[in-house]
Amino acid sequence: MDQSLFKFDLIAEDPTTHARAGVLHTPHGDIETPIFMPVGTKANVKGIPTETVKQLGAQIVLANTYHLSMRPGEDTIAELGGLHKFMNWHGPILTDSGGFQVFSHNDAVKLTDEGVRFIVNDYDGRHVFWTPEDNMEIAMKLGSDICMQLDQCPGYPATRAYVERAVELSSMWAERCYNAHTRDDQALFGIVQGGMHLDLRLRSLRHLEECGDFPGYGIGGYSVGEDHETMFETLAPLVSEYMPKHKPRYLMGVGNPTTLVRGVGVGIDMFDCVLPTRTGRMGTAFSSEGRLNFRNARFAHDDGPIDPTCTCPVCTGGYSRALIRHMVTQKEMLGGILLSMHNIYYLLNLMQRARQAIIEGRYGAFVSDWMNSPAAVDY
Ligand code: GUN
Ligand code: ZN
Repeated sequence: MDQSLFKFDLIAEDPTTHARAGVLHTPHGDIETPIFMPVGTKANVKGIPTETVKQLGAQIVLANTYHLSMRPGEDTIAELGGLHKFMNWHGPILTDSGGFQVFSHNDAVKLTDEGVRFIVNDYDGRHVFWTPEDNMEIAMKLGSDICMQLDQCPGYPATRAYVERAVELSSMWAERCYNAHTRDDQALFGIVQGGMHLDLRLRSLRHLEECGDFPGYGIGGYSVGEDHETMFETLAPLVSEYMPKHKPRYLMGVGNPTTLVRGVGVGIDMFDCVLPTRTGRMGTAFSSEGRLNFRNARFAHDDGPIDPTCTCPVCTGGYSRALIRHMVTQKEMLGGILLSMHNIYYLLNLMQRARQAIIEGRYGAFVSDWMNSPAAVDY
């Protein structure tokens, strides 16, 4: 299939790390990589109007094929003019397939070679049977710029045999998705699985390369309970030594700031995660001082911004830590919204600064400065 609308231009490579800066072209605009993509699972980034999402600096947002097919349904969205119009977001959109939902609803699904059977879905308890072909048909009706293959994401820990089976199933589904996907104005990315086994990851990648010419690759099955060192043991060689250089690499479901910094260093181009909005709604802010929990009484009389080094609309807009704490403890919804905005901006800004450092050939120093700063904590 002709996917020439999705050219990926590498514009800089860092001399001492595997980091790269690039531009990914899509029919709804260009994306400057490395990039963080805010998650709008059910056609909205929770709590944040799309014009604000744009103002925060987002260049692309996510939505989920599984959730949108359950409610309001792909036919409804298509009839209303497609996903961009429905979401009132006219920039690039990436839809995840639902492979991750298969993983997180482990008890409620049956996986067969044929497809996925959701025994109980979240919405009305009905049985739903899904084949890779169904999944592609839904993604094509939604009309996102980038869609992901249907895959199986094993948890951690898992037996090697279980992970091997997930790789086989995901490979088979990749091929079926590839053959069923026919929209030229939508890119289909394959997904590399294989858990914490490098040889299985390489087998998965090889299957995808044999399958056809995917315009980009997701890397799934990480951030499922393993520690960071375990993750980077296989992620670093996979990406820096084996993945094709001229295609975008998307590390799925990762939003921990330090993992983004390290991930860019091994050659990742794209990230997504619910972490900034989920932790924001719980009252937590990412910051240059580390994790800030606004339920903490230490902010009750603090009239400074969430993060004095942050240039987001919340931190520069006159909202004090004391007010944020008050709203969070009183369960006022604006507290969670403002923290979500700040957290999203924080990751977008982090990736912009990383990109600039790569362009200037100083990403190695950027990483060591980060690792030695109070910001290098886990969320
Ligand atoms: N989001 C986070 N991890 C995954 C994964 O392994 N597969 C898919 N489809 N989405 C993800
Ligand atoms: Zn801020």
